[in-house]
Amino acid sequence: MKKILIINGPNLNLLGKREPDIYGNRSFIDYLKTVEQQFPDVQLHYFQSNHEGELIDKIHELGFTIDGIVINAGAYTHTSIALADALSAVTAPAVEVHISNVHARESYRHHSYLSAKCKGVIVGLGLMGYELAIRYLLSQQ
Ligand code: DQA
Repeated sequence: MKKILIINGPNLNLLGKREPDIYGNRSFIDYLKTVEQQFPDVQLHYFQSNHEGELIDKIHELGFTIDGIVINAGAYTHTSIALADALSAVTAPAVEVHISNVHARESYRHHSYLSAKCKGVIVGLGLMGYELAIRYLLSQQ
């Protein structure tokens, strides 16, 4: 069975409540149920944390044994060399996802430390970005 890790960073636990005009009305847990239905043959691991070190620990824990990582590191995208190093350290390929179109927002959201460590980046397609990322990772196996 293929194994995919979905990682959400800070403030993404508030999806559905947080700035719904930007991020939508749906909680991630609700969305995850539909993702699980779409990929019944995939073991999906979901991890969310507001703490940078916990995100790194999870990448270390699973990143050598799973088939791919879908990562939305939230604001750590724009600040964290440590998370970028963690993605470099493990063997699983990663896809970076952003719900909003970061390039149409503040300039400090335009740079990502993670993009260069990922196979690709999906931005601005809402929650659908996660399922597209999973599809890509599965197609590579
Ligand atoms: C985000 C974009 C980031 O700039 C922001 O800090 C987030 C969410 C997105 O999914 O659009 O927390 O990663």
